[in-house]
Amino acid sequence: MVLGLSKYVFPEGFLWGAAASGTQTEGAASEGGKAKNIWDHWYEIAPERFYQGVGPAETSDFYHQYKDDIKRMKDINMNSFRTSISWSRLLPDGVNVNQEAVDFYQNVIDELIDNGVKPIINLYHFDMPFHFQEIGGWENRKVVESFAHYAKTAFQLFGDKVKLWTTFNEPIVPVEMGYLNDFHYPCVVDMKRAVTVAYHTMLASAMAIEEYRKTKQDGEVGIILNLTPSYPRSEDEEDVKAARIADLFFNRSFLDPSVLGEYPSELIELIKEHDLMPETVEGDRELIKSNVVDFLGVNYYQPRRVKKKESPIDDSQGILPSHFGDPYIWPERRMNPHRGWEIYEKGLYDIAINIKDNYNNIPWYVAENGMGVSDEERFMDDSGMIQDDYRIEFYQEHLKWLHKGIQEGSNCFGFQVWTFMDNWSWLNAYKNRYGFYRVDINTQERHLKKSGLWFKEVAKHNGF
Ligand code: BG6
Repeated sequence: MVLGLSKYVFPEGFLWGAAASGTQTEGAASEGGKAKNIWDHWYEIAPERFYQGVGPAETSDFYHQYKDDIKRMKDINMNSFRTSISWSRLLPDGVNVNQEAVDFYQNVIDELIDNGVKPIINLYHFDMPFHFQEIGGWENRKVVESFAHYAKTAFQLFGDKVKLWTTFNEPIVPVEMGYLNDFHYPCVVDMKRAVTVAYHTMLASAMAIEEYRKTKQDGEVGIILNLTPSYPRSEDEEDVKAARIADLFFNRSFLDPSVLGEYPSELIELIKEHDLMPETVEGDRELIKSNVVDFLGVNYYQPRRVKKKESPIDDSQGILPSHFGDPYIWPERRMNPHRGWEIYEKGLYDIAINIKDNYNNIPWYVAENGMGVSDEERFMDDSGMIQDDYRIEFYQEHLKWLHKGIQEGSNCFGFQVWTFMDNWSWLNAYKNRYGFYRVDINTQERHLKKSGLWFKEVAKHNGF
């Protein structure tokens, strides 16, 4: 603070908020007419894959506590909140609407608006309905069409009140985790299938956008991508090439078609060269070209550091992205040891400038940024409040770099953290906590942390 004034002031109307997802917060996994999604199924058959065996039914009970939770959002001056609709709750059989789900989401949206919290509603956050996975999930084009039906239904039901929609959260993650490295169900390791999943996901996003435009509603539709700026170890040609390929696979595979309407030619050549092309249908290219997003959400946690391939090539499972380069450990890196992710605040600035220079300076917002820490009770003071100064510092440093990017002309309209209250995570369950509010998973009580108080002031002053 300089003379009592904020030093880092953000543009007028800046969105300050938090993000979450249906599966990670709602709980009530088999209540209210919801059908199973892949997480419910996977937990049934392999509970040992989840930290301390805690599964998706035991999330933070937002399904029942949303009214109080939304009041808590208002208490800390949040002016926006993103969550996702659960596809298998809204359309349990994939076709027909579940009225209990409609009531629930309608109530959540109304409650948010009544409390001055703008809803941003996302359609897909890693949560394929299980019956669709049984027919191949994103590998099956029929599922792509079903997604378009789901999107259209959601727009028709809630689009009079929701003005900011996103089609997918981090669409590369189910590709990477589910089809390249055995971290998410269906635990496949197969690059050709991964490419098909990615391609069909992209088509699904474009079809959903097309459906939105057809409704002629007056909102906007975007996509949320986890961008991991790819830094080469050195200026050596081979290091630079390895980083560029990682960028093509993990960032530009969704960023370019979503914003510019076409895939990078270098990516297509690479895919062709290795015989990984997915099946295409006439009209696909046009569909993608004519349905670019209105805005972009960016999740930023960590950079990607890359060097040329130096480790032995393992081709026992065919070609994989790891064939094109190796991860590089930067000697100066700072780590969040709980999550095993590098903390590199400047990455957010590099993203801001990349969007400005190479992606038409499209309006964008930070859709997730956060720090997961385990055993946070260690930091509890006598009053019971967690003194999470590390989290405050984490946000401050990222916001400083974001501010610089905005000063230099990047068109960023908001900052949402991950997350509002501690929630369940895909594999780590409740190991790492991210929230402004601590959640006691035994009692489901919520308690504000110091970072929540800090955020309250930042949102109030539109800066710090
Ligand atoms: C993002 C996801 O990748 O990171 C969230 O959109 C996720 O769903 C968050 O929870 C934090 O990652 P994790 O694995 O620690 O929960």
